[in-house]
Amino acid sequence: MKRLSIFVSGNGTNLQRIAEYFSDNNNVEIANVVCNNPKAYSIERAKNLGIPLQMITKAEFNSEDFVNEMQSLNIDLIVLAGFLWKIPENLIKAFPNKIVNIHPALLPKYGGKGFYGEHVHEAVVAAKEAHSGITVHYVNEIYDSGEIILQAHVALEAGETPDSLAAKIHKLEQTYFPVAIEYVLKTQQ
Ligand code: GAR
Repeated sequence: MKRLSIFVSGNGTNLQRIAEYFSDNNNVEIANVVCNNPKAYSIERAKNLGIPLQMITKAEFNSEDFVNEMQSLNIDLIVLAGFLWKIPENLIKAFPNKIVNIHPALLPKYGGKGFYGEHVHEAVVAAKEAHSGITVHYVNEIYDSGEIILQAHVALEAGETPDSLAAKIHKLEQTYFPVAIEYVLKTQQ
């Protein structure tokens, strides 16, 4: 049995999709959802999905206790699904190649601090890029710069707005993020 921990900060559409994707897979279970935002709709989703939910403050998140807790849960893969805090070094060291993130653009462009959610789509549309997409990557000490696992592309059309692009990116995320997670689980030692 592979055990996932899903970290969230917002709406949780990726959390929902991942949970549904693996719901009939006896080899994968979501051990918990870790959330840093008391206003996140992800909280409702975790409750409705019946997944244990852990709310965290920044101090808790950056503590050694948190790393110990995650280790005691025997987590095989930490999935950042719209989680907006930087991951502390002690957690990265404790879970080498066991933390993946989804980013709503084609890294290395439009990545790094400040590039999240709609800010990414605004920047891509303002730059009149021909394409955008999603990147699933391992997490290392530098924001959005770990090894890339999967990218999927989509074309920008005439009159594209940040909102219309966000909808396209959302579809890509729903299609490809669970598949990328499944691939990582199958290939990890
Ligand atoms: C997703 O679009 C994800 O790619 C993005 O936040 C959104 C979360 O949506 N992540 C980042 O921008 C990370 N830098 P969700 O809460 O509905 O899954």
